Amino acid sequence: MRFRRGDFPEGFVFGTATSAYQIEGSRLGGAGPCHWDTFAATPGNVVRAEDGARACEHVHHWPEDLDLVRDGNFDAYRFSVNWARVLPEGRGTVNAEGMDYYDRLVDGMLARGLQPWLTLYHWDMPSDLAMRGGWANPDVAGWFSDYARLVMGRLGDRITATATINEPWCVAWLSHFLGIHAPGLRDIRAAAHAMHHVLLAHGTALQALRADGHRDLGIVLNMEVCAPASEAPEDRAAAATQDAIFNRWFLEAITQGSYPAEALAGLEPHLPRGWQQDMAQIAQPLDWLGVNYYTRRFHAAAPGQPWPATREVPGPGPKTGSGWEIYPEGLEQFLLRAGAAVGKLPIHVTETGMAWPDQVVQGQVNDAERIAFMDSHLAAAGRALKAGVNLQGFFCWSLLDNYEWAEGYDKRFGLVHVDFDTLSRRPKASYVALADALTRSS
Ligand code: NOJ
Repeated sequence: MRFRRGDFPEGFVFGTATSAYQIEGSRLGGAGPCHWDTFAATPGNVVRAEDGARACEHVHHWPEDLDLVRDGNFDAYRFSVNWARVLPEGRGTVNAEGMDYYDRLVDGMLARGLQPWLTLYHWDMPSDLAMRGGWANPDVAGWFSDYARLVMGRLGDRITATATINEPWCVAWLSHFLGIHAPGLRDIRAAAHAMHHVLLAHGTALQALRADGHRDLGIVLNMEVCAPASEAPEDRAAAATQDAIFNRWFLEAITQGSYPAEALAGLEPHLPRGWQQDMAQIAQPLDWLGVNYYTRRFHAAAPGQPWPATREVPGPGPKTGSGWEIYPEGLEQFLLRAGAAVGKLPIHVTETGMAWPDQVVQGQVNDAERIAFMDSHLAAAGRALKAGVNLQGFFCWSLLDNYEWAEGYDKRFGLVHVDFDTLSRRPKASYVALADALTRSS
């Protein structure tokens, strides 16, 4: 690995990230069901119908997992709270066992000298709320805000930075229009409502948390390069439409209080009535912005199809184990773009990483591809920093191999290999290379 900690400014935060549903074991410790449990139980939704019921059993293995973060020489650990673990019905009765668990987890980070970076929503909508329409129901802003205040009331005094929502595009579009994630809808009206409500929930919670005295509040957006399949005007327009849905919708809403015309062209008729009145609430001042970046996709016009009338075309570059094109330049581009949108606000790369069909050979996992991926993406982050972006942190996805949503346990993203039968953890070569690069003297 070429990268060394000393290539970045003093105080730059290096971390690794996970999320609750993907590692904890959703049926353990008194958690209520969430919409991923039911989505996965419906044939055809998830590879082998796998779910997060057991996952990495992090609720039992967390001391060992936090030791791995510390021994990897990371400064910070980005984790999420499972809404249904603290409020099994989404609101009302608190599961004390769940709250105590997160309390110990945060103390465990502090005891190891790790900064706790909390995400309040990483996709585990409690089933009772999902039954009431979940993100398509306007009440979700209040439900989420109450939950956020509850969690922060207990943990907020020890948290370094808090994100309201992880990847709102996935929460809304991927889950309600493309039908790939829970709740698996393919419904433009539900999608338009979710696209708006997820941002309204963010703004409402942010305002409430700030009123409660909490600071260092942000949001994590996933950004993906939307490139035209050719220079033909219709393909350029297809890419611009996808860029508006994927990237601009969220970035412009939170920074400018507006939605891009290219996305409104298809979504406006389906948005909740009076949506314009919510835009000021959505554009609450932030303390930081998180960017998750993975890939570039090419888009072509799909004439005759309903809006957005685009189709995907494979990119030319090498692919990860998920078939995602490896394109580190895209990270640099987005950091510049996010920097232009948020000005002096701190930006963090809150996730990047790759799936690879890692094999244990003679007790070792030699994931040279992941080392090269991390190296090239750290270099891209370094270039953005040199260009003046106020980048202050970089988190690798993920600490552990885990439940990769609709792909089940097949796609391994971890720096640490997990044997899902024995649950034993085995650091991969990428973990060792990063630990070496991150030693304080380097
Ligand atoms: C982003 C998501 O936040 C995370 O949950 C997921 O596993 C990774 N991307 C990889 O797809």
